[in-house]
Amino acid sequence: APSRLLIRGGRVVNDDFSEVADVLVEDGVVRALGRDLLPPRGPPSGLRVLDAAGKLVLPGGIDTHTHMQFPFMGSQSIDDFHQGTKAALAGGTTMILDFAVPQKGGSLIEAFETWRSWADPKVCCDYSLHVAVTWWSDQVKEEMKILVHDKGVNSFKMFMAYKDLYMVRDLEMYAAFSQCKEIGAIAQVHAENGDLIAEGAKKMLALGITGPEGHELCRPEAVEAEATLRAITIASAVNCPLYIVHVMSKSAAKVIADARRDGKVVYGEPIAASLSTDGTHYWSKEWHHAAHHVMSPPLRPDPSTPDFLMNLLANDDLTTTGTDHCTFNTCQKALGKDDFTKIPNGVNGVEDRMSVIWEKGVHSGKMDENRFVAVTSTNAAKIFNLYPRKGRIAVGSDADIVIWDPKATRFKKGGIRHFQIPRLQIVNHIVTISAKTHHQAVNFNIFEGMVCHGVPLVTISRGKVVYEAGVFSVTAGDGKFIPRKPFAEYIYKRIKQRDQTCTPTPVERAPYKGEVTTQKSRVT
Ligand code: URP
Ligand code: ZN
Ligand code: ZN
Ligand code: ZN
Repeated sequence: APSRLLIRGGRVVNDDFSEVADVLVEDGVVRALGRDLLPPRGPPSGLRVLDAAGKLVLPGGIDTHTHMQFPFMGSQSIDDFHQGTKAALAGGTTMILDFAVPQKGGSLIEAFETWRSWADPKVCCDYSLHVAVTWWSDQVKEEMKILVHDKGVNSFKMFMAYKDLYMVRDLEMYAAFSQCKEIGAIAQVHAENGDLIAEGAKKMLALGITGPEGHELCRPEAVEAEATLRAITIASAVNCPLYIVHVMSKSAAKVIADARRDGKVVYGEPIAASLSTDGTHYWSKEWHHAAHHVMSPPLRPDPSTPDFLMNLLANDDLTTTGTDHCTFNTCQKALGKDDFTKIPNGVNGVEDRMSVIWEKGVHSGKMDENRFVAVTSTNAAKIFNLYPRKGRIAVGSDADIVIWDPKATRFKKGGIRHFQIPRLQIVNHIVTISAKTHHQAVNFNIFEGMVCHGVPLVTISRGKVVYEAGVFSVTAGDGKFIPRKPFAEYIYKRIKQRDQTCTPTPVERAPYKGEVTTQKSRVT
């Protein structure tokens, strides 16, 4: 296959501006960007030309939050690092950030190496790993430092939920956040009050509520909002940058928006699910339909939630998007047939996120194409210190690129509309999301039936066309682990400013009346 690509005549969209330009790709990186890069005599041999006229040329999506083949709740998520990353590419996502999660008492470094040994031979797109802090000790503290210095990790997730399994308490979070600050990492939290959830679940089961609706009823919005505010308060006390994963409710999003207005360095990550569907499914009469929506924090029954979160994402109250892709088939979900607390938590999205956010964000008129790139790629690259290698189409950046159809049209009855690009026919039609046609392993799709007008046509991963016209050309292990350095400039500039402006100094006071002041003690 030719090692050089010329993407011709498309509209190149970055987070800050768009321009019609050709993109020359060589050896996996963007070599040149400009008008009319094609020599007048035509393409030299070894140069493949992709005509992107009328289409958008976007930085590949970065999914900030996935759990491929995650051993969790007595099961293991069904999309592994192979199928999950292939599905990502089909949806226009060229990088995922997954989570290495040690057991309580277990080594963080061992967990990290275990996840790498699973992912490295299987991944079809580039990836990085966040590491979870599920308990606290001097060993954990030391391992965090080693992970940052030697292993390319700069983000650590703390669970405030999953009592007994992963939950950490305030003092442990305080210690972990302090260490994050010290070593130049960003703290991430799963913000839900684990004690209240455990009590709520007992109450629901005692009332005879054993179905999936109990999952939401035992952990309402306030449980998420309270933990969000608590995490922000603790992070603020040590002036550590904080990233709230999977923002699911209006209440939690408002807490984040307020904190940002106060100048706190906090970021919120809504997910494809919370931006486009709601918790009314938990009341579905079909058990498996309801169970397939079970994730934590839950989707919210308030049907105005997705629009609300999308508005906040559009105006920078929320910053990035992930999916929390953590999929379980119906038979796995059935572990909780008689008790909702045993339903493995997690939903799909790694393939769907880009089109779903285009549909609900851009097609609906809430955000423009530049904000779309910011929230699906660039902001994640900046926060997790991958920028500008990832998250931007610029000379020298990795050629992780998606040719995007922003206005796919409904194909005509009896035939599929194609448009012609040299030596390639691309199917050009609206995508209706369905488990019948998606590339994710899971046998259900929470976005089933959603019509999407923004569609990836060609996905390029480090300079290689890996997906086009519904066909993959990628091999397990083609993706690479991308190490991340500490102290992302994007956030640490602000943390340093706050260190200066927020550090109090003691007040010089006159002695109490009658207080004996010994000159000596003052002088020493
Ligand atoms: O339900 C969820 N979110 N499953 C994955 C684990 C987590 O909490 O992110
Ligand atoms: Zn979580
Ligand atoms: Zn439903
Ligand atoms: Zn997760």
